[in-house]
Amino acid sequence: MFEESTKVDALVEILGQQFGEPPQIAVVLGSGWKELAAELLEGAESLDLGGLDNWICPSVAGHGSDLLLGNLVGVPQREARRVLLCSGRVHSYEGYTAAELVRGVRVLVKWGATHILLLNAAGSLAQDRPPGSLMPFTDHINIGLPNPLRRGENCGLGAQFVNLVDMYDPVWRAALLAAQPQLRPGVYAGMEGPSYETPAEVRMLAQLGADAVGMSTIPEAIAAHALGAKVMAISLLTNMAAGIGGSNPSHAEVLATATANAAAAAAVLHSALLTATV
Ligand code: HPA
Repeated sequence: MFEESTKVDALVEILGQQFGEPPQIAVVLGSGWKELAAELLEGAESLDLGGLDNWICPSVAGHGSDLLLGNLVGVPQREARRVLLCSGRVHSYEGYTAAELVRGVRVLVKWGATHILLLNAAGSLAQDRPPGSLMPFTDHINIGLPNPLRRGENCGLGAQFVNLVDMYDPVWRAALLAAQPQLRPGVYAGMEGPSYETPAEVRMLAQLGADAVGMSTIPEAIAAHALGAKVMAISLLTNMAAGIGGSNPSHAEVLATATANAAAAAAVLHSALLTATV
């Protein structure tokens, strides 16, 4: 038995004891997304996992450690959708190993979540994607984030040579776009952070074909996909990336834009939860 899979299995058991039936869809709320998210659930119960052994707790402002499990609002009882909201995530730049970064997602998929929805804040690489835009991922370019399938990080939790074509589920995305036609999907570039990019890096990423840049999500998407979950990821573009139109990003700007766009983000989140084919 690998040590990592022992930790994952122990956490799966605790969540099962605490909450019973697993959620169909688990959501990792990134910077800014959590403000109105709780209003999307009814009959929700919360579990603060802050003190739980081996559960990795977020420390970045805008992230939290509690989980909320309930039914999606606006759905008839007989079609109830059980949804789990994780209020924050951990990042590579906080010093975690890839296995630690994705432990929560692995736990949720092994517990029984069939759909993983990953949300984040990102910088826009294109003038025609202004702050406040929402971008479902079509694909990603991984520059600086660790791969959780590396030997020693994978720890018996899935195959290694995983095919990432269509990792961001095209069927789920098409259903979301049909419900929210104003959305423009695009390619996310993952950097290690925590410093923002240099203007030269931003120009490089745009030339490589990326539409947005951020510091998260890719490891969790790979881990969830490798375990067979359907994956969707959506960025809230909170700022123009460094140097574009003179942009000089800050965490305060990221959080302020997220707050200002919380209602639009919550509406898209609701659609994403409704359009998952659970
Ligand atoms: N770069 C990287 N990560 C980010 C940014 C950015 O400009 N904005 C929000 N997260």
